[in-house]
Amino acid sequence: MARAPDPPGPPGHWLLGNLREFRHDMLAFYERMSRDYGDVVAYRLGPRKSVLLTHPDLIEQVLVTENRNFIKHYALRLLRPTLGDGLLLSEGEFWLRQRRLIQPVFNRQRVDSFAAIIVDHTRTMLDSWRPREARDLHAEMMKLALGIVTKALLDVDSGDNSDEVSRAADVILADFNSRFKSAFPPPFWLPHPRNWRLKRQVRRLDALLQRLITQRRSESEDRGDLLSLLMRARDESDNSGMTDRHLRDEIMTVYLAGHETTAHAMAWTWYLLATHPHVEARLLAEIESVVSDRLPTAADVPRLVYAEQVVLESLRLYPPAFVIGREPLHDCTIGGYHVAAGTSILMPQWVVHRDPRFFDRPGQFDPDRWNDGLMKRLPKYAYFPFGGGPRLCIGNSFAMLEAILVLATVLPRFRFELSADVPVVPWPTVTLRPRNGIHAVVHTRSSRVTADNTAQQTA
Ligand code: HEM
Repeated sequence: MARAPDPPGPPGHWLLGNLREFRHDMLAFYERMSRDYGDVVAYRLGPRKSVLLTHPDLIEQVLVTENRNFIKHYALRLLRPTLGDGLLLSEGEFWLRQRRLIQPVFNRQRVDSFAAIIVDHTRTMLDSWRPREARDLHAEMMKLALGIVTKALLDVDSGDNSDEVSRAADVILADFNSRFKSAFPPPFWLPHPRNWRLKRQVRRLDALLQRLITQRRSESEDRGDLLSLLMRARDESDNSGMTDRHLRDEIMTVYLAGHETTAHAMAWTWYLLATHPHVEARLLAEIESVVSDRLPTAADVPRLVYAEQVVLESLRLYPPAFVIGREPLHDCTIGGYHVAAGTSILMPQWVVHRDPRFFDRPGQFDPDRWNDGLMKRLPKYAYFPFGGGPRLCIGNSFAMLEAILVLATVLPRFRFELSADVPVVPWPTVTLRPRNGIHAVVHTRSSRVTADNTAQQTA
């Protein structure tokens, strides 16, 4: 049988391919490729052959129907020195065993048990804000999400080890981001100041985690945090648990995968609300009617329907995971085109979520579009902020719970006036963050939630 043709695509420099346009503005590059060449586009970044897929059916083929032929993308593997064989990077039988062990830890009921931590940390953040103060909401959400994941995962409070943990996390993420953008990142084995810095921080985190794991192994008490749950997880077939090494890799993975993305989602949501006062007013009315003058709990979340729509719509327009990457193990045919083994396959939520074939007025922030079962009507992979198939984000319920509870805690107390001096610009690093942060003046709304009744709520 004749081989399928290669996908169409832009011409490129003989050595660099399309690297220059890609590095100049990755999001615009993806948009242009899809608009000019269709749903399957071939391009090249230096020696690396790449294919962009922007049709939901083709994305479903890669993530679901033929997922066994696809492994994670090379860029994600840059995280291996830090994340080891945690869920995000492991493959095959080992990944499957770990996923089966860990999945129950993230079931809805367990996740709901972290609601008090989420609300309590948010309240502490709000108590430190002063009226008419200027704040970078993105930096605030990063600190908040880090505090929440540290407590939920390790039962560690600010003031214990969390400064050490957050410093190490900052260095690790900054290192990954710069490697991801660099045409020639220094290989990890090279004696290079960047590698030394990274390894020093990874060693610090390793030592801290090992201390925590050893301490926990010697305790019989279940602290109810994710670490306790992961330590107790047992493989049904042979009743075996995780070794210290596997625990370390999974903790590190959840720790890093679990806070940056959620923080970006919340920051983008604040930006969208501040620029759409009518949406903000409706959301506030819903929160006031469901939660009244107490603090929100997990039990309120199913009734915060509009809040969920706001978060879904924010994840559509500013998906923190703005592209998913894979590589085929064997040559395959996608959308009628030949794709060779080892090709980088990129599936950009950024483009698909804004495609007018699937969304009316796609550039508009309109939470109401999620009324009336849009999710069911859409082709399955026209909206995939948490990925899909067997590698679907394991923390999606956690992230949704966190985003909704943070909205419901903050909004009754504060509103934000965006600073006109600092433009808000999407910045595609490993995740989609606002390049200059999101600067705003915070205004007190009212004192309905007082210190007294907040203390009762979270006791
Ligand atoms: C808005 C917040 C979040 C977004 C947008 C997001 C997005 C994603 C996406 C797109 C994937 C799939 C990656 C791929 O297929 O290559 C993923 C995987 C993953 N996420 Fe999330 N995530 C979020 C929050 C979280 C949270 C809160 C946790 C943990 C507490 C978490 C833990 C993970 C893990 C462990 C994986 C790997 C799962 C596997 O391969 O089995 N994520 N996430």
